[in-house]
Amino acid sequence: MSTVAEIFQTMEYGPAPESDKEALSWLGKRERVFGHYIGGAWTEPGQLFDVINPATSKTIARVTEGSTADVNAAVAAARRALPAWKGLAPHARARFLYALARGVQKHSRLLAVLESLDNGKSIRETRDIDIPLVARHFYHHAGWAQLLDSEFAGYEAIGVVGQIIPWNFPLLMLAWKIAPALAAGNTIILKPAEFTPLTALCFAEIAHEIGIPAGVINIVNGHGETGAAIVEHPDVDKIAFTGSTEVGRIIRRATAGSGKKLSLELGGKSPFIVYDDADLDSVVEGVVDAIWFNQGQVCCAGSRLLVQEGVAERLVTKLRARMERLRVGSPLDKAVDMGAIVAPVQLERIRGLVQQGVSEGASMWQPSWACPAEGCFYPPTLFTDVQPSSTIAQVEIFGPVLVTMTFRTPEESVALANNTPYGLAASIWTESINLALDIAPKIKAGVVWVNSTNLFDAAAGFGGYRESGFGREGGREGMWEYVKRVESRHSKAELLARRAATIEEEATAKEAAAKEAAAKEAAATRPPTHLPSTLHPPPSTLPSSALPAIDRTPKLFIGGKQARPDQGYTRRIVSPSGVLVGEAPEGNRKDIRNAVEAAQAAAKGWGRATGHNRGQILYYIAENFSARAQDFAERIDAMTECGTRRAKQEVEASISRLFTYGAWADKYDGAVHSVPIRGVAIAMNEPIGVIGITCPDEHPLLGMLSLVAPAIATGNTTIVIPSHAFPLAATDFYSVLETSDVPAGVVNIVTGDKDTLAKVLAEHDDVEAVWYFGARDGVRMTELASASNMKRTWATWHERDWLDAKDGEGREFLRAATQVKNVWVPYGE
Ligand code: NAI
Ligand code: MG
Repeated sequence: MSTVAEIFQTMEYGPAPESDKEALSWLGKRERVFGHYIGGAWTEPGQLFDVINPATSKTIARVTEGSTADVNAAVAAARRALPAWKGLAPHARARFLYALARGVQKHSRLLAVLESLDNGKSIRETRDIDIPLVARHFYHHAGWAQLLDSEFAGYEAIGVVGQIIPWNFPLLMLAWKIAPALAAGNTIILKPAEFTPLTALCFAEIAHEIGIPAGVINIVNGHGETGAAIVEHPDVDKIAFTGSTEVGRIIRRATAGSGKKLSLELGGKSPFIVYDDADLDSVVEGVVDAIWFNQGQVCCAGSRLLVQEGVAERLVTKLRARMERLRVGSPLDKAVDMGAIVAPVQLERIRGLVQQGVSEGASMWQPSWACPAEGCFYPPTLFTDVQPSSTIAQVEIFGPVLVTMTFRTPEESVALANNTPYGLAASIWTESINLALDIAPKIKAGVVWVNSTNLFDAAAGFGGYRESGFGREGGREGMWEYVKRVESRHSKAELLARRAATIEEEATAKEAAAKEAAAKEAAATRPPTHLPSTLHPPPSTLPSSALPAIDRTPKLFIGGKQARPDQGYTRRIVSPSGVLVGEAPEGNRKDIRNAVEAAQAAAKGWGRATGHNRGQILYYIAENFSARAQDFAERIDAMTECGTRRAKQEVEASISRLFTYGAWADKYDGAVHSVPIRGVAIAMNEPIGVIGITCPDEHPLLGMLSLVAPAIATGNTTIVIPSHAFPLAATDFYSVLETSDVPAGVVNIVTGDKDTLAKVLAEHDDVEAVWYFGARDGVRMTELASASNMKRTWATWHERDWLDAKDGEGREFLRAATQVKNVWVPYGE
């Protein structure tokens, strides 16, 4: 007879299946056929498509393909519902969100099983991770609804919001989208992914039951075309998307110039970095969570294992042993580690990429056991001997496939980690807190986990750098995506009227001054009558006005030096009444490229300068600038003919603006989020990097400084295209920069044709953000071109009162200049 100890060693797992009875009965009661949920009611089923359980390949339901008419109806319903929902007292909205959280909890097991059936993910994960996090998101955002008026004063709901979500965390992605949107007072059209529509439909029922007003939440199912119809609908005010970078790019282009606000959460190829002092047994469990959680179908999956050379072999051996013991099987079996891949096309995609990895020469390893033959299963897979440039090291596989590479030094690990166009997440494993916190800021990613991985919470923002998209979901930073500034107190007509009034006053004052001067002059030149006129000596020198003036042609300002334009052309700058004021160099593509190179070279150092140092430099600029206030006022008046009073006002406001950002430089703090772990999530405001700034025409100096100052205060470097019509205040300004200790390359100024230069900036892959203030066509062009590398854009054609500090400076500008990185630091022995 065997002993207990022997049985323990040899015992096989028995199946521990979760029942699908309730979920099937829920489907059955609806005859397994669904319409859309629009305007608080279910539509008649239309053209249907099949919903598949990927673990069995069986059809479990059929849902309606959303037509353009369906999308139109949903948008109209959301529009109708908007005023009342937006107008509700924050507390009332908080109560609805709270009720949604309760509703999700009450039906949590049904939702968990339904999610497993539809997606193929294991019940262990849907039950313990997805659904609890869904409830957590609604609770957390019930709180933001409650606090909206005080914490987001001066901001309001954007309006009708279109949300398009992927299939990897169907209900969780729904919650990430819907909770903040509702909290802020928006109404919603949400399209679930075509592979996984069921839990969204169940959620619509829950929302209906708790009495969410008709039209506030609309769920329309369908494929890509349905999504595109939402994106292109003219009456949608914002699009929030999670999915592939490819589709993100399509959406960026489709919304260009439309004024729709956009947030994109896209793909990743996140590094999982292991240093030689890391606790390797923890690392192994971390890797399991990083790449085999949800079958690797996770946008922030740690899919690139970067290991310090000395421990690579040991780690790979341990990993293989662990992989040998992973269990793949029925998602409803509570004892499996991995369920099914979402759909046959995804399975094929994974197989294809693995094949490619093998044929490109990497070594592939899989455990000895076999996956279930029926359904979409794929085993955990490990690649070694991987070249950093190979397909499997660069492309998002979105499956249970890990690629391993090695490095020697921390510097090398950073270079390797950042060797991807993505920037979603990273994991850092080391016992040295010094090393971990030194590396975290150097990794280009929106989330960094220290000695941990795949931690999520509603209180901490989630989202990417670079081509992983922009915008955050969760926490205070996520709420900003669903609010907009309450329109400036001045309407355009008011602004124009104010301007006209000051111009008129100015003209009257000028006229009076001119009369006075003429009278004085007449008195002075009247010949004295008591002297003979012959005593007047003949002039011995030429009047100075007849000498050619010493040429002071402005240049471009690149890399801290005055630079002649590549082509050697200049443009005449003429005042509104036709007086030649000066000439400005005509920059071209090559000049912009040189400026970008200079800005890139300066970015690292300036980004790491302390806030104190940056502040000092901004104050120093202000000091040197104020010494020349008179010159600048004259120049502005000469160019724009705004009158000396207004010109002086602009100069004074510019000095104050520089002070504002000198002040902010060491005060734009991040946050420490209260996340439910033993530890903290540190939300750091990091510079974006190189920002291309196209300045507004109104207030040629103040407009420029209002944008450049926040950008450099937060550690970015800039390429500035000054006002097209009135560039000379900017070219004068470089002489101030030259004397103010601004490091070379931090501010580069290229004058020339505004839109031609802005396009070069927007297309340039080494520019990380573009700001465009100008006409709507320019906004469209900028947003279109920005899609090449998914630049952050801030582009607007709306009037702004730059002289008014409430409109022309502050946190809005600082937010545009930064992106939030959340660094999760668990602690304890
Ligand atoms: P996808 O990006 O095509 O689908 C995501 C959502 O966008 C779905 O709801 C889809 O219907 C919708 N959609 C598709 N085309 C659209 C369009 N032109 N306009 C508006 N909406 C559109 O992703 P897919 O094809 O399901 O997966 C392909 C690859 O994308 C995966 O292998 C993975 O690499 C990546 N992916 C990344 C995700 C992430 O969370 N970062 C999620 C899903 C996929
Ligand atoms: Mg499915």
